[in-house]
Amino acid sequence: MDKIIITGNGPLHGEVRVAGAKNAALPIIAASLLSAEPLHIANVPDVRDIGTVLHLMQLLGANFERSGTDLSIDTSKVHSVHAPYELVKTIRASILLLGPLLARFGEADVSLPGGCAIGSRPVNEHIAGLAALGAEIHIESGYIKARAARLRGAHFAFDVPSVTATENLLMAAALAEGVTTLENCALEPEIGDLAQLLVAMGARIAGAGTGTIVIEGVPQLHGTAHRVPPDRIETGTFLAAAAATRGDIRVLETNPDFLHHVLGKLEQAGCQLEQGSDWIHLSTGGKRCKAVNIHTAPYPAFPTDMQAQFMALNALAEGSATVVENIFENRFMHVAELQRMGANIELQGHTAIVRGSERLQGAPVMATDLRASASLIIAALCADGETTIDRVYHLDRGYASIDVKLAELGAIIKRV
Ligand code: EPU
Repeated sequence: MDKIIITGNGPLHGEVRVAGAKNAALPIIAASLLSAEPLHIANVPDVRDIGTVLHLMQLLGANFERSGTDLSIDTSKVHSVHAPYELVKTIRASILLLGPLLARFGEADVSLPGGCAIGSRPVNEHIAGLAALGAEIHIESGYIKARAARLRGAHFAFDVPSVTATENLLMAAALAEGVTTLENCALEPEIGDLAQLLVAMGARIAGAGTGTIVIEGVPQLHGTAHRVPPDRIETGTFLAAAAATRGDIRVLETNPDFLHHVLGKLEQAGCQLEQGSDWIHLSTGGKRCKAVNIHTAPYPAFPTDMQAQFMALNALAEGSATVVENIFENRFMHVAELQRMGANIELQGHTAIVRGSERLQGAPVMATDLRASASLIIAALCADGETTIDRVYHLDRGYASIDVKLAELGAIIKRV
């Protein structure tokens, strides 16, 4: 099992290109099941979660070709609607196959994902939404079994705005008979991007990116080409790392529009920011950041996927701040690891009180989930001595070559 060893050595500086967004690419790959014609996708990140979901698609009978960051998927020969537990348990986003399989093939058997390191993560919204569209749906031996000769348009309001449940319902409704109105939808940019793809495939969708989405179902969709948008969380992660190390970096091939809240917090922390349509320049002037209060909430507020990275930034900042996690009940697993590196963090329920330290100390630590791994990397870059991060497969799920990119920015980092 790979480990990453980092020797803390001061500021990151230089340029870094971000990859396509994992959380945009996953629903796009699922959407390829909605049409028998091929889908050509550019800017697909080379991360493990994409490999896992493609493996799952292959089990269903899909064919794909991958060349660099280009991916073509052909689902014309899909012969199975069974997504097995062995794969689904390793990637919860497999739930995204449920809506498209049901809509195109009239049936889907998708394993319930089970537990997760960041919280219980129920899928009741996905199930209730598909039932509202007329699916017969029940749980049997750990599997969600859904059947519907053809889904019917309906009115459905989400109790909580869920990103993947909104995506699932959007895909399912695209092929349903009649009009579907979805209310209290999640607003994350990946949903607007999925809607753009579906429209290019022939779907009729209005209001994507707002709380209410109206979908007029069509009998079939066709193939198209699409480019995955830049990863806003990878962008934020590099910016937080540069801020924590008192560095100066330019992030390229990104989209600052998706990051208002995160950029605002970096400015509040004392960083200087400049941006263009597809780049962001962060400089700290060599100064230590100030601690900033964080409250995670659905987009466009501060993303839960950046909470761990800002926890590390605060642990090294001047002053103290609170970090409140409002999305996932257990997304503080990185705290105990950061404490092993000397971070002064006190947990009170969903709130972490962080008192900044000038330096942390290198230590052996363990990654517990994707974004937790990123926070340990940031802490290690600013620690005295060597930090060995175990279980970096969590990191590889969502960051493409982060060790190589950090080395190019001047970090002393190696993978063993
Ligand atoms: N929720 C329910 N019932 C449901 C679905 C969700 O109660 O049926 C609750 C969740 O428990 C949570 C809240 O709704 O409290 C929001 O969860 P959501 O469903 O939006 O999360 P998700 O769709 O499972 C996506 C991202 C996550 C990201 C969250 C929140 C993908 C593939 N995953 O997950 O990404 O943290 O939205 O923004 O898009 C990551 O990349 O590290 C990651 C975990």
